[in-house]
Amino acid sequence: MKKIILSVLFGLSLGSMQTAVAQGDADAGKAKSAVCAACHGSTGTSAIPMYPDLAGQKEAYIVKQLKAFKDGSRTDPTMAPMAAGLSEADMNDLAAYFSSFPWGGVKEAAAATGDTSAPAAATAAVKVEINTNIIFHNGGNPTVGQTKAATCAACHGADGNSLVTIYPKLSGQGAGYIAKQLADFKAGASSESGRVDPVMAGMVAGLSEQDMADLGAFFASQKISKGNGKTNELGKKLYFSGDSERGISACVACHTANGKGVSQAKFPAVASQNVEYLTAQLQKFRSGDRTNDNNSIMRKTAVKLTDTDIEALAQFMSSL
Ligand code: HEC
Ligand code: HEC
Ligand code: HEC
Repeated sequence: MKKIILSVLFGLSLGSMQTAVAQGDADAGKAKSAVCAACHGSTGTSAIPMYPDLAGQKEAYIVKQLKAFKDGSRTDPTMAPMAAGLSEADMNDLAAYFSSFPWGGVKEAAAATGDTSAPAAATAAVKVEINTNIIFHNGGNPTVGQTKAATCAACHGADGNSLVTIYPKLSGQGAGYIAKQLADFKAGASSESGRVDPVMAGMVAGLSEQDMADLGAFFASQKISKGNGKTNELGKKLYFSGDSERGISACVACHTANGKGVSQAKFPAVASQNVEYLTAQLQKFRSGDRTNDNNSIMRKTAVKLTDTDIEALAQFMSSL
């Protein structure tokens, strides 16, 4: 009799433990949290007033909220695309990761780890004006695009001028080029010509072709801010003349003398772009991590570039 009671008790406590005990893997969650860090901080303590802290939050609550964002029972335009691609295992892992930090969060943590991923709160103060005189050939509407761009502002800035330099500026970029990139991110690794990025993949999952055209038109209608790069001789020489001995094409042929690119041909603007972003893209073309350039148009040249060349070119393009 005693034995039965004990085993009943044991069975009960085990049962209730299983529902309460963590099912997620915090280490796996850490790897998956890169996307979330931009808004919630890398350790779950957010630098932005409107973005909640997740550090020390209860696991089960985090999972419940993520499910609610995914099934639409909790509606938020920013979180909906973030949750859309998460599996139940992803949600459990993310919850385990964020709940592992102390509640009320070491606000210093973000600064201490040099977390530059937190988007600047200053974007809220940016005044956005749309130049409605531009006609977009791909049928995009910049005014409609602006309403769809609310989700993008955290990383790319309300007017497309991102303040965090690993995120590209989109302001003044060609509308057709932007729409192509969004479609390429959506195709991702499933296509030879897809563009693979874990952060952007989550952002584009729900976009239609019309959304992409509208977003492209909106950002194209914005004015780009001054770049953070410095002009230099090596960068200037390679940009305008290339290096025929080493098989490096002159960038000017496609990106033009003022660096504005050729919008109709979807040759992107590179002028005033962030140095860190430009550097990363040249490295990705060189290593073959970015393969969405038709006919390897960029990879052919990038494989010939040394680290010194890339640094010089990124600085120079940004100074244009
Ligand atoms: C672009 C900014 C952004 C990104 C990226 C982002 N979030 Fe959020 N998150 C928000 C905002 C804004 C809210 C508040 C939504 C609301 O007001 O209902 C929120 C709310 C939440 C909540 C609910 C918190 C609560 O206390 O109710 C959870 C959980 C959450 N996010 C998890 C995540 C996870 C996990 C990721 C990464 C997969 C992520 N978020 C990525 C902006 C973001
Ligand atoms: C959480 C941060 C984040 C958010 C939010 C975000 N992006 Fe991005 N975006 C990135 C990063 C990081 C890259 C660079 C990816 C790479 O290295 O290839 C990028 C790249 C891009 C590019 C390619 C630019 C170029 O010059 O090739 C476009 C276009 C873009 N994003 C548009 C958008 C749009 C539109 C939205 C909103 C629907 C958005 N992004 C939301 C982080 C973000
Ligand atoms: C023959 C034309 C051509 C030449 C020459 C060329 N590019 Fe490009 N470049 C492109 C095209 C087209 C893309 C966009 C590919 C795509 O659709 O994603 C691109 C993309 C880029 C990007 C990424 C822009 C972004 O916003 O993500 C950088 C940076 C770049 N090129 C730098 C250079 C540099 C530096 C040189 C010279 C060493 C160069 N390019 C030479 C055509 C060219």
